[in-house]
Order: sequence, then C-alpha cells, then structure tokens
Amino acid sequence: MPAAKKTFWIETFGCQMNVHDSERVAGTLCAHGFAAVERAEEADLILFNTCSIREKAAQKVFQRLAQFRPLAKEGKQFGVLGCVAQQEGEAIFQRAPHVNLVAGSASYPRLAELIARLEAGEKRVTGLGSAEEAFETELTRRDHPFRAYLTIIEGCDKHCAYCVVPFTRGPERSRASASILAEARQLAAAGYSEVQLLGQNVNSYRDPSPARLSFAELLAAVAEVPGLRRVRFTTSHPRDFHPEIVRVLGEHETLCDHVHLPVQSGSSRVLAAMRRDYTREQYLERIAAIRACRRPLAITTDLIVGFPGESDEDFAATIELLDEVRYAGAFSFKYSPRPNTASGAWPDSVPEAVKAERLMILQRRQQEIQQHDNQSFVGRTLEVMVEGHNPKLGQWIGRASTNRSVNFTGSGLREPAAAALPIFAAPLRPGDYAWVRITKAGANSLVGEQAAAPAAAGRAMWKSR
Ligand code: SAH
Ligand code: SF4
Ligand code: F3S
Repeated sequence: MPAAKKTFWIETFGCQMNVHDSERVAGTLCAHGFAAVERAEEADLILFNTCSIREKAAQKVFQRLAQFRPLAKEGKQFGVLGCVAQQEGEAIFQRAPHVNLVAGSASYPRLAELIARLEAGEKRVTGLGSAEEAFETELTRRDHPFRAYLTIIEGCDKHCAYCVVPFTRGPERSRASASILAEARQLAAAGYSEVQLLGQNVNSYRDPSPARLSFAELLAAVAEVPGLRRVRFTTSHPRDFHPEIVRVLGEHETLCDHVHLPVQSGSSRVLAAMRRDYTREQYLERIAAIRACRRPLAITTDLIVGFPGESDEDFAATIELLDEVRYAGAFSFKYSPRPNTASGAWPDSVPEAVKAERLMILQRRQQEIQQHDNQSFVGRTLEVMVEGHNPKLGQWIGRASTNRSVNFTGSGLREPAAAALPIFAAPLRPGDYAWVRITKAGANSLVGEQAAAPAAAGRAMWKSR
C-alpha cells in the first residue's frame, strides 16, 4: 500500500499578492506529495502566510501561533511564510519556539527544498534573503475556478516613508511579457474568463525581455487573449499612471471599467512627507485624464489618516479631495508605525483618539458619497459575473465590471423566486455572465433582477463555461 500522503493547511493574511503566493505554495506542496486539508487539526504541516503592513496585521500571526500551539504536541509542524517571516526572520523562533519553518516570499522558488529539509528531520529551517527575478512556476493551484490572479511584477522600488513592502518583498522584478501572455493564454484555455494582473505597482512594469512592452502595451495584449472576458489590474501608482494607459482602457472593452489609484492623502504637504512623489494637483491631473476616458471608469483608492504631522488642515484637504474625486470605493487606515521604514523612526504624533475620529469622519463621508452616486445605477442594466448564490436571501451574488457587488434574483433559483421571471438563459452557475437591471442601490452594493441583454450591448450573451 502506498504511504498516506502528508497533509497541509494554509491560512492567508494580507493582500492579493499573498493570496496568490499561497496558491503557488499550495501548488508546490501538492506537486511534492502533500494533500491540502480543510482544517488545521487535520494537517501535518500548518502554514501561515503573513502580512506586516500594519502592526495589527503582523500581530495576528502570533495570536494564531499561540492558539494552535497545543497541536505542536501532536507532532504537527508549523511554518510562517510571507511578509512577517521576511521582516522578523529567525526572531520568530524565539517568540514562538514551536515554529519549524520561516520563509519569505523570495524563497518560494526553493520551497520544495526547504520542505524536504523539514521532512528529513531538521528542526528549524529558514528561507530568507532576496530574489533577483520574479518567481516563475507552473505549479500554481488556483483557489477560484473562473477568476485567476496573474503576477506581472513583484516587489517595490518606491520607498514610501510609512511602508514595509520594499523591505518584505524586495526590489521590483518584472516578468517577461511573453511569459505573462503564455500564462494568460493557458488560463483562458483552462476556462478562466477573468484575469487580474497583480503587482504592488503594476504600472511600474518594465518588460525585461527584448519585446520591451510598456505596461499599456501589455494590458492591450492581455486584453486580446481569446477567451478572456474581463481583465483587471491592481495596484496602480499615481506617479506612473501615464495617459497611454487611459487610452488603452478606452480601446479595449475586455479591460474592466475600474482603476484603483491609491492617493493616501489629499494634502501635498503630507504627500511630500510620505515620499509619494506626487502633489495633490498632479494626482488630480491623473484623475482628470481617467475621467476623460472614452468610457466611464470607476475609481477607487487607499487612504491613511494620522500620518506623523498630519494637521486638521491636512485632514480637511483629504476630505475635500473625497468630495472632488467622488471615489466609487475607498480603503482607509489609521497610520501604523512600522519597523525599518523612514517614518517608523519619527514620533507617531497624531494621538490614537484623533486618528480614530478622523477615520470615522472619512469613512462616513465616503459612505455618503457612495450612497448618493450609486443611485445613478438604478434603472440601468449592467453585465455581472456570477460569483455565488445566497440561499438565505434567494439572490445571486455577482460583480459588475466596475468591481461593484451586485445582488440579484434570476434564473436558476428555486421556486417561487424564479417563477415570476422570464427565461433568459439556462439556470445560472457561478462563472456565468448575466445582465441585471438595477432596482436599488446601497453604499456598498447594488440590487437588481436578471434582464435581457440591452439592445446596445455589443457582445452576444454567452456563457463563459
Ligand atoms: N502598493 C500599493 C499599496 C500597498 S499596501 C500602493 O502603493 O498604493 C496597501 C495600503 O496599505 C496602502 O495603500 C496604504 O494605504 C496602507 N498602508 C501601507 N502602510 C501603512 C502603514 N504603515 N500604516 C497604515 N496604512 C498603511
Ligand atoms: Fe508601499 Fe509605496 Fe511601494 Fe505602495 S508604492 S508598496 S505604499 S512603498
Ligand atoms: Fe501585507 Fe505583504 Fe501584502 S505586508 S499587504 S502581505 S505585500
């Protein structure tokens, strides 16, 4: 009888880059004789893929390690991967002695070897250090059946004063355009209709191959891969968001109607202290160019409140910026001083209570803007990618090209919800595309019912899979 397979369980914190790294780690482990399990208790190897962007995120892994520590007595092994691993290195063994593996993202190409050492009985294995090239692997085990992440650039060269990413992910390394396009074609052939291009700054992409595609040219080339229906990309840095990108967005319908362009602050003074390399005015020029695109694009952003030295006036400038840009969505955070960063050494001068109050004011204002602006969708028909079904509400859950969540009733629902609906298509399945007439709008999602494709829709209604 063959020996029982070793099992692993992985929990992921942080950004999409980490989510995708976990898919690559899982693929590597599966190719080396491991099987994934649903619960930590069932696993021989328990992995945490960690995030260090804010203090709270970094603390989470130590809470988890403490929580699962009793399992170490059962002979289970523990690994800490990702940004906390890279940042804390071997200090993790001191803080959590039951950890057996500490590996930063640059070491994943060597992961099979690191795991083999663990298997051979080494008690403490580390994979730290830096990488010169982007990580290329065929072994990705994607979690999602119709939407795929595709890395185009790793690391970051920007050195914003507050940010750990350049330390945890190393310098920028772009993948060769031919390799990216080959993966995009493979994904389309495997039935994926949506691809999300990933990088800390996707638009800082620099093709290392002789083809020398610019980011805009790469976007256009991926958009033309037959079978791909939606192409997203995140995150874009305002400094490198050139007009050529907007032109390409206007020309390719496959590129989603969405740009995520983190501003961080509406005050040029704070932006200078943050070392963001643009002023409020320059950022607003980028926004004006995006607004001038041939088709409307949703713009979302990230914001930090309470950066060292942020005054009431600086904060007021951020609120004014929200009113001026009218973002479709925003992620906002209280400033958190981080090790190794420039501002980490400065006094954290804005008191916690002020940070909390500013965050609340900002989020409330942003919610009002979304609540108001989303009303303009009522009565319109949007194409939605079906992601799942909420049996409690009797609704499908999907996403519009703008990335807005859409909950809707439609075919494929059990009686009586579906009874009143005309039959537009066979019962829906996750991964399908459906047209939805919007009947109601909230700040964070739209509600509607399945409808016939509008006459003006350039494309036939077809199913992705
Ligand atoms: N590469 C992206 C974002 C990376 S991190 C960019 O340049 O925009 C995601 C978000 O976390 C950032 O946009 C920022 O808003 C927030 N963030 C990063 N460091 C932070 C810190 N020290 N404290 C609070 N928020 C932070
Ligand atoms: Fe961090 Fe700035 Fe790089 Fe974004 S651009 S990852 S915020 S250093
Ligand atoms: Fe966090 Fe690392 Fe991403 S610090 S946000 S997981 S790059």
